[in-house]
Amino acid sequence: MTTGSLPPLSLYIHIPWCVAKCPYCDFHSLARRGPLPEGPYIRALLDDLEHSRGGLPGREIGTIFFGGGTPSLFSGSAIAEILEGVNRRMALAADCEITLEANPGTIDSSRFRAFREAGVTRLSLGVQSLHDPSLRRLGRIHDAREAHNAMEAAAGAGFRSFNIDLMYGLPDQTAAQAQADVRAVLAVDPPHLSLYELTIEAHTAFAHDPPILPSEDERMAIEEAATQTAGSAGYDRYEVSAYARPGYRCAHNLNYWRFGDYLGIGAGAHSKLTDGQGVTRVVRNTDPVGYMAGRDRIASRRRLARRDIVFEFLLNALRLSEGFTQDVLRDRTGYDFMDLESLWAPAVARGLLGREHDRMYATPLGRRFLDALLAEFLTATEILPAEAS
Ligand SMILES: C[S@@+](CC[C@H](N)C(=O)[O-])C[C@H]1O[C@@H](n2cnc3c(N)ncnc32)[C@H](O)[C@@H]1O
Ligand code: SF4
Repeated sequence: MTTGSLPPLSLYIHIPWCVAKCPYCDFHSLARRGPLPEGPYIRALLDDLEHSRGGLPGREIGTIFFGGGTPSLFSGSAIAEILEGVNRRMALAADCEITLEANPGTIDSSRFRAFREAGVTRLSLGVQSLHDPSLRRLGRIHDAREAHNAMEAAAGAGFRSFNIDLMYGLPDQTAAQAQADVRAVLAVDPPHLSLYELTIEAHTAFAHDPPILPSEDERMAIEEAATQTAGSAGYDRYEVSAYARPGYRCAHNLNYWRFGDYLGIGAGAHSKLTDGQGVTRVVRNTDPVGYMAGRDRIASRRRLARRDIVFEFLLNALRLSEGFTQDVLRDRTGYDFMDLESLWAPAVARGLLGREHDRMYATPLGRRFLDALLAEFLTATEILPAEAS
């Protein structure tokens, strides 16, 4: 397969350590033991980038995201050193958005200032809840007071933007508590809010010892109330879990949802990269010790089949309220709307997909049943070529 022009490129930098492992979390993160090996890890990240950049000739990085784990465990000078090293090796867009994830239990305002001075433009703060019993039940290392202080510090630190992560549908949570959390966060006026429904992920402590969660009806009512509250406060729900004030959408995540490319460096990081021939997914080994030693950094490399490309494109693009255009579909998958008519037609007929001129999107009904719709697409894409792109 040949794609059109290459998609925009983002850089993801994984910091795999946390103070403690939260019982619901299946991100690749390890509870830290002793001081972090900042120096050796920075050298490994930059060495990894040095080896990876040869495969990306002439490509510019549009956004950078420090994710984890808990990147705010790293010092401001460590983040500055990483960004200087990236800058020396790759061209960065003039308006490059640089996000860093922070845990309210690991910061103070001087650290926030140091991140900003290092070049970070956007902070993403994992508040999760502002109700102390919920925070304890989630195994968080911070309480509601620390979360409030961190939000105030984020608002006052001079970043171009900041995001607050909240979760809902928590063990024993009432609709009133969830709504109070949303209101308390909006009172700080963050440019961006991410609101995630708690999911019980396999191989987590919650999966082994499941908590009692609000019923599905209650969770749906919480989500509707939150969307209304955020909507009347001027936030646009532009993706299933993302709300932003005008001009403050997350450019990095938008690139994922538009099936753009990303290079992921760091232990356990994932990449998705397009070349003239097709799309490759690469996963790095999760062990930070091996990663720092430079041993077998790549755990797997897989060329996507054309059917996988179409399915993964839809998996991402249908999360966006705006959906996708014909041009983006063609650029990312090599197919036109017309080529995939048998895929769309049943969903359009049932009111799950909407189509306007050159744009396709999940209707409110389609987004409510997005998982079921995607399961149908997974089956339907089996008629497409199985060979690697
Ligand atoms: C990789 S975490 C990084 C943030 C930072 N480590 C922290 O926890 O403060 C990104 C976000 O994913 C969300 N998240 C993690 N596990 C989740 C789960 N099982 N269900 C729903 N949301 C989850 C949380 O809101 C979290 O802030
Ligand atoms: S939720 Fe955040 S702090 Fe908790 S284990 Fe996961 S990455 Fe670490």
